[in-house]
Amino acid sequence: MTGRREVLGALDGASTRPVAPTASAEEQSEEVNLRPRTLDEFVGQRELREHLSIVLDAARARHQSVDHLLFAGPPGLGKTSLAGIVAAEMGVGFRVTAGPVLQRVGDLAALLTDLQDGDVLFIDEIHRLARSIEEVLYPAMEDGKLDLMVGKGPQARSIRLELPRFTLVGATTRIGLVAAPLRDRFGFVGRLDLYDDDDLTEVVLRSAGILGVAIDAAGAREIASRSRGTPRIANRLLRRVRDFVETRRDGVISAAAASDGLTQFGVDAIGLDKVDRMILDVLCVRFNGAPVGLTTLAQVVGEETDTIEEAYEPFLLQRGLLQRTPRGRVATRAAYHHLGLTPPVDALF
Ligand SMILES: Nc1ncnc2c1ncn2[C@@H]1O[C@H](COP(=O)(O)OP(=O)(O)OP(=O)(O)O)[C@@H](O)[C@H]1O
Ligand SMILES: [Mg+2]
Repeated sequence: MTGRREVLGALDGASTRPVAPTASAEEQSEEVNLRPRTLDEFVGQRELREHLSIVLDAARARHQSVDHLLFAGPPGLGKTSLAGIVAAEMGVGFRVTAGPVLQRVGDLAALLTDLQDGDVLFIDEIHRLARSIEEVLYPAMEDGKLDLMVGKGPQARSIRLELPRFTLVGATTRIGLVAAPLRDRFGFVGRLDLYDDDDLTEVVLRSAGILGVAIDAAGAREIASRSRGTPRIANRLLRRVRDFVETRRDGVISAAAASDGLTQFGVDAIGLDKVDRMILDVLCVRFNGAPVGLTTLAQVVGEETDTIEEAYEPFLLQRGLLQRTPRGRVATRAAYHHLGLTPPVDALF
């Protein structure tokens, strides 16, 4: 289905959120090829995959469209991929938009009325939808109806349109910011967790196969273990290591070659990059172990607060290198050790 391919092809450029390092146009199109297209190709997240597969099978068996789905989790874990997979598995069209893009009620109305029967409408960053748009979305999700105000002043009247059956798939990196009434209207909420090294090794091997890169199992594992639990990062590191072995080694990704290449690119043994280390350095050294507020931290590091919270913190928290306290972010003893520093005797964590 070429039509669907094209829509999927537009996806990676569609993100409006500031997420750490951006890729070139060619790398973005390579990334599109790496995107899993079916549930079978989707590595890891076993429980979520199983639940989703039950939901899809049941809808198929009943000849119904799939209930509305919400995917939540840190960037690069596969939310957009899953949305595309739902459409592909159900053999329906896939329409893509994002919370911040839908500025006026008319924007949403235009999208909804243009859907074909059964289509998947994907709203990325759904926590950033305007309240006025959410309110139009509720009856559309619940009853398949679109209530619109036409005209202004005393002439204004409300009209109600029947919508085609559709499945709304929302994605968010910040489930806590999704309004409760909106969250409650999803029939299924899937949370994506950071991937373990086994799953990421599989992601790296799969991607290397698609890219035609020579790699051995130990090389794949080396890249996986430095990928911060995130497939998108695993794919990015794979491409950097490919550059490295093609120009500085014999073209084959072994564990040693991967390790040398990643060190060269500033990715350390547990996968922290420059910004991660800067965050820890600010907490441990510049502020001497005192709690630091998010805004201050973002300013000192030179990143957006959203980027810190969505892209960097989840992994630092998961690795026990950082703690959130009511007074701010604090580095843990493990963070001091990782930076080769001695933790203060009165360290909190
Ligand atoms: N389970 C997976 N198996 C294989 N590859 C994956 C998987 N999950 C993600 N990827 C790879 O990681 C890339 C990023 O995934 P995706 O764009 O779906 O993440 P996302 O959760 O939507 O991220 P964001 O929050 O930044 O939009 C995909 O293009 C794909 O190559
Ligand atoms: Mg996405």
